[in-house]
Amino acid sequence: MLPSIAIIGAGTMGEALIKGLMREKLIDPAMVIASDPWEERLAFLRETYGIQTAEDNAAAAQSVDIVFLSVKPQVMSTALEGLRGVLRPDVLIFSIAAGVPVKKMRQGSGVESIIRAMPNTPAQIGQGITVWTATPAVTAQQRGYALTILKALGEEVYVEDEYYLDMATALSGTGPAYIYIFMEAMVDAGVHLGFSRHVAEKLVFQTVLGSADYARQSGLHLAALRNQVTSPGGTTAEALYHLDKGGFRTVLSRAIWAAFVRSQELGREE
Ligand SMILES: NC(=O)c1ccc[n+]([C@@H]2O[C@H](COP(=O)([O-])OP(=O)(O)OC[C@H]3O[C@@H](n4cnc5c(N)ncnc54)[C@H](OP(=O)(O)O)[C@@H]3O)[C@@H](O)[C@H]2O)c1
Repeated sequence: MLPSIAIIGAGTMGEALIKGLMREKLIDPAMVIASDPWEERLAFLRETYGIQTAEDNAAAAQSVDIVFLSVKPQVMSTALEGLRGVLRPDVLIFSIAAGVPVKKMRQGSGVESIIRAMPNTPAQIGQGITVWTATPAVTAQQRGYALTILKALGEEVYVEDEYYLDMATALSGTGPAYIYIFMEAMVDAGVHLGFSRHVAEKLVFQTVLGSADYARQSGLHLAALRNQVTSPGGTTAEALYHLDKGGFRTVLSRAIWAAFVRSQELGREE
């Protein structure tokens, strides 16, 4: 079980954590306090999850063991300023803000034990993947807490170097957006062919789910799986030719690289 935790910024990802902790019964709701500027939001969280709430970040965070920072990167400086000097010296800071470096959080909060993580939105149903790193001051017990938090969000990958966090932001953090635009385009193509939207969506959703599961379970190389669908002179070969001709792989690769560069830029701006 987790000790007390304050969730600063109870938006989409903050709620994903609360939901996951409750679903997996990883903490007593009375040990969770969420802080957010919007009282209506706090009332919703109190009623839905039975947790404590506060409109003031410092009041929420002052006596807890873990401070989970899920505010937008743009407001991180303000949030840290409000916490400086009020936190317990042995507190663990766990941040999921994109592009905000550990150094900035250490300087802003005065705290040494910091975890920086990059989750993604499937965390809302416990199916996310989070890449995370920890400062040397994080104790073995605090690492245990971190793993419990990560379990509420889905799977996790630990990295030694913070550099990988920007890479993860571009690949898995932003990843759901690539998948959704790809699926949306496939559904629209199905409608163009003459399927109803409902049927096109059903076909695309299960094709994506089944293909991902099959790839994982078979353990085969992705190219081998693709070759299984590609008979000589057939329909898939024709479709793949047009994807290559349209620069599909290059566009995707450039998009992911651009997201990586942007993540680094955001870190520098911060
Ligand atoms: N969404 C993703 O896919 C994703 C993935 C990985 C990481 N992240 C990171 O997760 C963080 C949260 O993202 P999100 O999508 O959950 O954003 P979000 O839904 O906008 O949640 C942020 C919450 O923080 C509140 N807030 C604003 N200023 C605050 C302050 N000074 N103190 C306390 N709370 C404050 C916001 O209230 P108002 O709305 O009233 O301003 C909002 O409810 C970001 O740093 C993002 O980089 C997001």
